[in-house]
Amino acid sequence: MRKTIIAGNWKLYKTIPEAIELANGLKRELFQLDAQDIEIVICPVYTALTEVFEVIQNSAIGMGAQDAYWQDEGAFTGEVSCKMLKDAGCTYVIIGHSERRQFFGETNETVNKKVKAVLAAGLTPIMCVGETLAEREANKTFAVLEDHVAGGLKGFSAEDAVKIVIAYEPVWAIGTGKTATPAQAQEAHAYIRGLLAKLYSKEVAAKMRIQYGGSVKPDNIEELMHQPDVDGALVGGASLKVDSFADIVKKAAKIRK
Ligand code: 13P
Repeated sequence: MRKTIIAGNWKLYKTIPEAIELANGLKRELFQLDAQDIEIVICPVYTALTEVFEVIQNSAIGMGAQDAYWQDEGAFTGEVSCKMLKDAGCTYVIIGHSERRQFFGETNETVNKKVKAVLAAGLTPIMCVGETLAEREANKTFAVLEDHVAGGLKGFSAEDAVKIVIAYEPVWAIGTGKTATPAQAQEAHAYIRGLLAKLYSKEVAAKMRIQYGGSVKPDNIEELMHQPDVDGALVGGASLKVDSFADIVKKAAKIRK
């Protein structure tokens, strides 16, 4: 059985006081949920990590960062390493988000190096994959998914692969209010699981979790979670408010697969 994982990507939002307030609100709203049943993750900006960790420590909520560099330390101005993120309380790191691929030159090669570093630090990578609107319209969705999945996972053993969470985020559904239909999400997730079976084995593919991301809201989480290959969600906009993120988490936690 794959444990549901709901993560909130706060992107470039929230000052330290705002982040503390949001984390406190979520802790209050979600205290009844059991970490045995669902994994809940919040991913604040770097500057708020330490303070947010103070809040969520000893709760069912885990913390992630939104990126990491692959070296532990050195003359790499502006970067933050996995070792440092772990030190700040992170247990997850989002890698290869489409915004990083689009605006910051992230490639399959850098994603691969970063995922490797995240695993080496003993943290859980959330590796993002997904096609743009132009790619979908040109019928290139599956080719892009194959490129992102195979490129990102290059060189990883099955033992490493099962520790990785994949987030399928169609770029055209991010921040647009346009969610993939449950059928479109399921089709892409099933395709990704098929790729994982080819790269590793059916058993490994059956263990790996694939989250959906792109305009996930309280009113569409249930139908998405009912899809057999959707194992959770990576939430942007709706993770910035206590009510909407808590609602998404509670609804997802009720769906037993
Ligand atoms: P939205 O939920 O705002 O569409 O963002 C999705 C996303 O990019 C999460 O990483």
